[in-house]
Amino acid sequence: MKVLVIGSGGREHAIVWKLKQSPNVSELYCAPGNAGINLIANEVKIKAEDNAALLDFVKSSGVDFTVVGPEVPLELGIVDEFSKNGLKIFGASKSASRLENSKVFAKDFMKKYGIPTAKFETFNSGEAEKVFGFLKSTKCPIVIKADGLAAGKGVVICQNEEEAAKAITDFFGNRIFGAAGEKIVIEEFLRGNEASVFAICDGENYIVLPPAQDHKKIGDGETGKNTGGMGSFAPAKKAVSEDILNKIKQRIIEPVLGNMKSEGNEFKGCLYCGLMIDESGNPVVVEFNTRFGDPEAQVVLPLVKSDFFELLYASQGGSLNNYKLEITSDYYNCVVLASKGYPDKYETGKEITGLDEVSSDCIVFHAGTKSDAGRVLTSGGRVLNIVGKSGKDLKSAIEASYKNAEVINFENKYYRRDIGQKGL
Ligand code: AMP
Ligand code: GLY
Repeated sequence: MKVLVIGSGGREHAIVWKLKQSPNVSELYCAPGNAGINLIANEVKIKAEDNAALLDFVKSSGVDFTVVGPEVPLELGIVDEFSKNGLKIFGASKSASRLENSKVFAKDFMKKYGIPTAKFETFNSGEAEKVFGFLKSTKCPIVIKADGLAAGKGVVICQNEEEAAKAITDFFGNRIFGAAGEKIVIEEFLRGNEASVFAICDGENYIVLPPAQDHKKIGDGETGKNTGGMGSFAPAKKAVSEDILNKIKQRIIEPVLGNMKSEGNEFKGCLYCGLMIDESGNPVVVEFNTRFGDPEAQVVLPLVKSDFFELLYASQGGSLNNYKLEITSDYYNCVVLASKGYPDKYETGKEITGLDEVSSDCIVFHAGTKSDAGRVLTSGGRVLNIVGKSGKDLKSAIEASYKNAEVINFENKYYRRDIGQKGL
């Protein structure tokens, strides 16, 4: 089969790397890819958001199956467009992807069907006065979220009323998220242990992959600004026991699939459940995404021993009930090497060295890199994912990732020193 992966980050490198191991995949393409991906897949110079050009490419080059990495093409309706053209594609439809790209839709859906989530109210930009009234009657901390996609940055945790008022002014007055911030959700602040669980769904059946945890904040000890993710590890056995996983299936994944289907929004693709596990071991939904997490995919996909292509293909084809998932007993820990300045304005164009010197207990997935006359340069905020592997325990996987994070260098490389510690 000829397979196209859409996207250019560490998640997509992990997807391409995993698909390459499948005997079902004869040729791999990635649009637009990065310096690492383009070493193992054919580079397609089309942007991930250019659905029309991607459709033309797939038709003209005889691609049999397409896998969508990021959220934006889903929101733009790539799955609907491909399906209309009789093409096979892994991902959520435009209407199903609202679980990620409209927080108002997701929260209303959860409320309607009794899926556990933080208590909330929604407001639109015409209701500034009503919001300020609401803030006066509410106890902080609270969380304010832009309705639409904001690259992981549309969430503000407010410790007091002043911070909340500033956030409202930023969203409604300064329009820092544009149309994505025209509606907002204000919700209760949840305490507990955060975890990410991926369910591969075919509209009716689902397969749950091993749970992961990521580290969202830029600084050690979960301090500073929120980022797209500074590291991750899997399996997250300490945070998510078998018992908790069963609750996640029964209380969250199954009602999502059943009720999306009955509302005519059949869910196919990867349902990413962003969860808070409270102190009694009850999972509460923080957010849904409708694609693999980044950097969680980089530690979860290597755990899959059965054919990954067949898993994604069965999701699209509605035949997951016949798929037998096999998982290795390994541990993976991913440290993100970032550019100085990230998650704000950051430097790019720095030469990366040491990529060929990593040890065999490490996989390097590229995120923001590009090749330039035989050199590899930084080209994004999150640059590389250093994934340490161990057959023994998480501690050894952490050691493997940090040992190799030292070997690879670029000017002003930044990374957190405590990735994985919360899993020990
Ligand atoms: P989201 O984009 O909704 O996942 O939010 C980004 C991050 O903000 C989450 O991963 C959490 O760390 C934090 N967060 C979001 N909502 C809440 C909440 N209700 N309580 C506590 N933390 C939250
Ligand atoms: N790791 C968070 C995300 O992919 O949204």
